[in-house]
Amino acid sequence: MSTGSGNNRPVRVTTQTVVDMKHRGEKIGMLTAYDYSMARIVDAAGIDIILVGDSASNVMAGHETTLPITLEQMMYHTSCVVRGAERALIVADLPFMSYQNTTKEALISAGKMMKEAGAHAVKLEGGAFIVDTVKKIVGAGIPVMGHLGLTPQSIYKFGTYKVRATEEDEAARLLEDAASLEEAGAFALVLEKIPAKLARKVTEMLSIPTIGIGAGSSCDGQVLVLHDMLGLNKDFNPRFIRRYADLSTVMTGAVQNYIKDVKASAFPNENEQYD
Ligand code: KIV
Repeated sequence: MSTGSGNNRPVRVTTQTVVDMKHRGEKIGMLTAYDYSMARIVDAAGIDIILVGDSASNVMAGHETTLPITLEQMMYHTSCVVRGAERALIVADLPFMSYQNTTKEALISAGKMMKEAGAHAVKLEGGAFIVDTVKKIVGAGIPVMGHLGLTPQSIYKFGTYKVRATEEDEAARLLEDAASLEEAGAFALVLEKIPAKLARKVTEMLSIPTIGIGAGSSCDGQVLVLHDMLGLNKDFNPRFIRRYADLSTVMTGAVQNYIKDVKASAFPNENEQYD
């Protein structure tokens, strides 16, 4: 990992950097990316963490859920992102059924993601059920980001994408899970779609950073799916998404103009061809 000394590369964000950011009260920006070109843009814009999310299953592959994406497919996306990012910490999701079976299988999956795809850390969904797995992976020197609240790999268990932990018993369990994941060695925790007050409680309780998505402004950082915040995916409209661009409209206009020019023999012109 380049430290930035002796070349023109920016200093790489590390797991320690984001823990230090929490303690300084500096918010952490995280976005997803799944390919080289997008990773370059997001990295050069100054994002702290790029998550190669298994949301690739939805936005890149068009599946309804995150369940179908495989470890090999996630490793492909991760290796593309790694080549595009010089500064950001790159966290890769371990996909459904690549870590739930045994701690040994989980360590093998995490090891492949680091060694072959070049990730800097892995993210796993779940609480008490994965604590031993987190200990095993962290014990091997691989940083782990946890993920609590709405965990999309369990969507068929939940049966719905509604806000999680609104009832006292689930909120209490989430607090216990958060403490256990920190204790197991996780360096950060994603909190997805839980009440803002609960996210605040978790954030105050932990010394590792929380990264929220639909979890309010008290989290130490925020994450969005890149395609959602760029307006590339207009069919998905939960209230926690803020659209920072309308690239779907921009791209549609560009493609329509191109088609118009081709049909009218207006592209290419004489400066766009060779003598
Ligand atoms: O897969 C993903 O994009 C995620 C984020 C929504 C946190 O896990």
